[in-house]
Amino acid sequence: MNKLNGKTALITGGSSGIGLATARLFKAEGARLAITGRDRERLAAARAQLGDDTLTIVSEAGCLNEIEAMLAQVDQHFGKLDILFLNAGIAEPTPLEQATEAQFDSIMRVNFKGVFFTIQKALPLLKPKASIIVTTSITNRSGTPNFSVYAASKAALRSLVQSLALTLIGRDIRVNAINPGPIDTEGFNRLPLPSEVFHAIKSDIEDRSPIKRFGAPDEVAKVALFLASEDSAYVVGEEIVVDGGMTLVCLP
Ligand SMILES: NC(=O)c1ccc[n+]([C@@H]2O[C@H](COP(=O)([O-])OP(=O)(O)OC[C@H]3O[C@@H](n4cnc5c(N)ncnc54)[C@H](OP(=O)(O)O)[C@@H]3O)[C@@H](O)[C@H]2O)c1
Repeated sequence: MNKLNGKTALITGGSSGIGLATARLFKAEGARLAITGRDRERLAAARAQLGDDTLTIVSEAGCLNEIEAMLAQVDQHFGKLDILFLNAGIAEPTPLEQATEAQFDSIMRVNFKGVFFTIQKALPLLKPKASIIVTTSITNRSGTPNFSVYAASKAALRSLVQSLALTLIGRDIRVNAINPGPIDTEGFNRLPLPSEVFHAIKSDIEDRSPIKRFGAPDEVAKVALFLASEDSAYVVGEEIVVDGGMTLVCLP
């Protein structure tokens, strides 16, 4: 039986990587979909994969006006939401002595502020038994010197998930997080690093990983499906790690 029959899901950052793999799985499980992204061509390519009934919306995840306009489109199209997957995020290196205020603000705006206000503004659309899922990162549990601002933005999300889980459970809305380790996505492969540095980081991760490989976006999507469906009805304010054991060896 399809696990999401009759459900409607909004996935931010649904045009690529983890978000797109989740959109494919949710669709296969019977959900109606709205996805967001910034790049029109990527969104159009995602729609071609997911079907013409997918609502695709160009929307900057860190901008309140755009969040409101995006949710107005979702409201007009679907009326209500059962699943809100807050997955859009940006990662870039911010070594302490080189990081700029603009970088700091943009990472925090997209990864943290945007998530808070999307949840706030989506509340009128969320049906009883709705599931909110936030994508964090294993960098929020370990020291990550060159990505300290990104890691801190994801640590802020872990705290937010715990607080909002308590705020919303009385309305029969569950809030949880997925915490991915290294996942082989378009986004990861576009990290703004010199090629030799990027390849050195990639092979170092594979060497240190207990499972000796990157995860696939589909492997994260299956955990998102668990959190989106009634299978996780008793899971509240939790952050599920999907990392091939990486945090076991990364943590002190
Ligand atoms: N891959 C990993 O190893 C890994 C590990 C831990 C956590 N994560 C988290 O997983 C999530 C998805 O990452 P991914 O690896 O799947 O990356 P990805 O392939 O680059 O996909 C990111 C998605 O988010 C959208 N997006 C990015 N910035 C946005 C913005 N400012 N406004 C609206 N949409 C935006 C992208 O759309 P456009 O392409 O149009 O910008 C795209 O649809 C992120 O939150 C990331 O931090 C990833």
